[in-house]
Amino acid sequence: MVRIVETSVRDGHQSLFATRMNTEEVLSICKELDNAGYYAIEVWGGATFDSCMRFLNEDPWERLRQVRAVCKKTKLQMLFRGQNILGYRHYSDDVVDMFCKKSIENGIDIIRVFDALNDVRNLKAAVTSTKKYGGECQIALSYTTSPVHTIDYYVNLAKEIETMGADSICIKDMAGVLTPEDATKLIGALKKGVKIPIELHSHCTGGICEMTYMAAIKAGVDIIDTSLSPLSNGTAQPSTQAMNTALKGTEYDPKLNVDALHKAEPIMSNIVAKYLKNGLLNPKSFQVNPNILTYQVPGGMLSNLLKQLTDQGAADKFDEVLKEVPNVRKEMGYPPLVTPLSQMVGTQAVLNIISGERYKMVAKEIKDYLHGKYGKAPAPVDEAIKKKIIGDDEVITCRPADLLEPEFEKLKEKYKDIARSDEDVLSLALFEQVATEFLQKKYNPQSANEVEEFEMYI
Ligand code: CO
Repeated sequence: MVRIVETSVRDGHQSLFATRMNTEEVLSICKELDNAGYYAIEVWGGATFDSCMRFLNEDPWERLRQVRAVCKKTKLQMLFRGQNILGYRHYSDDVVDMFCKKSIENGIDIIRVFDALNDVRNLKAAVTSTKKYGGECQIALSYTTSPVHTIDYYVNLAKEIETMGADSICIKDMAGVLTPEDATKLIGALKKGVKIPIELHSHCTGGICEMTYMAAIKAGVDIIDTSLSPLSNGTAQPSTQAMNTALKGTEYDPKLNVDALHKAEPIMSNIVAKYLKNGLLNPKSFQVNPNILTYQVPGGMLSNLLKQLTDQGAADKFDEVLKEVPNVRKEMGYPPLVTPLSQMVGTQAVLNIISGERYKMVAKEIKDYLHGKYGKAPAPVDEAIKKKIIGDDEVITCRPADLLEPEFEKLKEKYKDIARSDEDVLSLALFEQVATEFLQKKYNPQSANEVEEFEMYI
């Protein structure tokens, strides 16, 4: 039997319409999803946390508690980025610990963590803390192709992860580039190499995802990620109903409750119709994009590159930049193109082309990366280019978070005038500016209104 994790209320709307589904909409479908018989429902983390506060004026912690109150039977799952949690810098271990503790206390059962570089040292604190508070910890390996990302590379990482105490492993194919043939080999090798369950997470962007899922299932994958049909395909996951039907009556039958899915479908269709109408959901997002298979670049990165170039009046350089991406990636030691490395490599490719000289301009993040501040690159970086950018500077070789002092108590003190709970402190630590504005409005609606009126007056 293959189990299913439902992704529509996290990855589904994150992939298709910029994570804008609000709490009321999420709650409207939770009861039916809870009755469907999933292994878990992914409801939190990723971009939902930031989006709640930044765009929806909602408290992400409150969303989690409300979803938990409705979903009484099914495990709730979240995603975060190792030592970065949901932010863009490395946090100290005590902040990671508090984040795991509060996530579990507020209703999360399964914490899925990943590191862009697959540097397992950046995942250790998350595994330890999740287990400490009784959660289930899954480590997701960022999937990419390169001369170093071989089957052996993934099997060795999987063995290390099993030894670290993770409960399961996910192959996270964020770009949707895993082919059926490679899935057969990879999943087969992983099943031989480790005992813990293997899950597959991919995207339909390139049009091959369902075939890859079938190949993975036949090779023994334990869990697959799918999204309720109105929010499936395109840049999201394959349809839950389609996969459930395709496997019906076989030895892999996920045995979902079809009545519950029937009831959930029109609710989700109405939500999707709203976002199609208001333009946040572009129908193009449902189209197959074979470019991602050619360039091995995630769909979101393609659109970001085009936007960066258009903003600079250099849209005609798009093809040149696309060809530069693999060069930069190789010189940086083949990092998988996932946040934050996708943005860093993409921006560097743009700078290399529009400045007319490679590495004449270099973003601070690339310098930090070369100093070892993000962890270990999958393959050695190009020495000549490293020297050009950071000279003979010292490079960190230890786990980057080992250099960080405990900081939770300091953050609590820093935000004592705004925060009313440890959850608030965490929101502020992750998204300082956005959370400050949000919490000020939440706790002082009066003053927020006055400011608005004042602004309207001038
Ligand atoms: Co995804």
